[in-house]
Amino acid sequence: MSEFGKIDQYLVIGNPIGHSKSPAIHAQFAAQTAQHMSYKALMAPLGGFAASVHAFRHTGGNGANVTVPFKLEAYAMATHLTARAEAAGAVNTLKFEGEQILGDNTDGIGLVVDITRNAGATFQNKRVLLLGAGGAARGVLMPILLEQPSELVIANRTPGKAQQLLELAYSHGVDTVAVSVSDWAQLSGEFDIIINATSASLSDEVPPISPALFNASTLAYDMMYGAAPTAFLRFADNAGAQIRDGLGMLVEQAAEAFYVWRGVRPETSSVLKTLRQSLELGAQ
Ligand code: ATR
Repeated sequence: MSEFGKIDQYLVIGNPIGHSKSPAIHAQFAAQTAQHMSYKALMAPLGGFAASVHAFRHTGGNGANVTVPFKLEAYAMATHLTARAEAAGAVNTLKFEGEQILGDNTDGIGLVVDITRNAGATFQNKRVLLLGAGGAARGVLMPILLEQPSELVIANRTPGKAQQLLELAYSHGVDTVAVSVSDWAQLSGEFDIIINATSASLSDEVPPISPALFNASTLAYDMMYGAAPTAFLRFADNAGAQIRDGLGMLVEQAAEAFYVWRGVRPETSSVLKTLRQSLELGAQ
């Protein structure tokens, strides 16, 4: 509750926004931690993102989550950026403090927490493969490197974009991890963790990689999720790997945003369980 007794207000802003699970997630976090707040979804018109944010701020909004396609515009309008938002080049969490607009990015930490805490895997001293070099891959690059894998290989359909990510990693002074770029066909050896950050799953496609990159203890992670496993996860399952979709990442990035705003860490496992059940029910 604010000093004037009004309920603190948050939004998720995107286009489209109809199917966003964020209001349901934050409602559960707020109930669980007894935070007096509202969290709604807003569809901003394309080209009208900044105006929508300013209007919300001026009517007393406290913060917002930002989703497709506005994460770059949110980055551009922030007056202050966290180091992880700077590295990601995109913002998914805005916090309004007087005239200041703080831009943060909780996607990468969401992935890392889901893999390390919820899936019980570790990056430390592991061989990691990152598929993709778009916004989603860039957002998770630095948080993965901070976990100190022994090696990170980046592979992308357009090799030049993978090279740009490699240069970004070097520009942030990560010199304890062997980071490299590879063509799909040149990938070799088995990996401990393979993360699909491409959008191939949207068209039910799989990056053209060999099943020999997976073994029985490989964690194959798709940042996308759905009622049924993605094409990448089905491929990894056939190759004998452990599979996990990005629903836990969604919940964990939300939990981190909630912490940025409220200073309270919600419990996430029950929220993830509820979300999984409703996803499966929706598919029946
Ligand atoms: P996002 O924000 O989801 O990362 P993006 O920035 O458009 O979206 O990036 C999409 C990523 O998925 C890119 O790495 C893209 O490869 P290109 O850089 O070559 O475009 C990758 N991608 C999309 N469809 C793919 C497919 N069918 N097979 C392999 N990679 C694909």
